[in-house]
Amino acid sequence: MNGTGESGLPEIGVKLIDRDHNYIVELFSELQFHTVAGMAGGKTGAMLRQLAQLTQVHFLLEEGIMSATNYPGIAVHQLRHQWILEQNKALATQRGRKALERNSELLRYLADINDEHIRNDDLHYGLWLGTKAPRCAPAARNAMR
Ligand SMILES: [Fe+2]
Repeated sequence: MNGTGESGLPEIGVKLIDRDHNYIVELFSELQFHTVAGMAGGKTGAMLRQLAQLTQVHFLLEEGIMSATNYPGIAVHQLRHQWILEQNKALATQRGRKALERNSELLRYLADINDEHIRNDDLHYGLWLGTKAPRCAPAARNAMR
């Protein structure tokens, strides 16, 4: 449990969450490739919107699972999700894309925020779920893995 996934980030131990994390990290890598290669434009805009939408759906999934398992840290976790979503959405706007064309480091900054959230906040949940989920029925826990 809680090994390293395809993305090089720690696995949380919930299959759906780990699958999404790998996909989000892959999307960041693809975006960075396009941005560094100077291909910012229509495709980058579509990918940034896709990233913002995927992240929003992923966060709702995470929060739903946390709620179903009575995770005591859910309120703080939701606040962190909101902040990350605001950053993602800002970059997906026309103004954000223009800023990204001028400074490709913005994308690296956002990718680092995402990685840090997985390494710290999400992993904290995974460790809690694996060892301290007293009110979570074993059948429900097994269904998520
Ligand atoms: Fe999270």
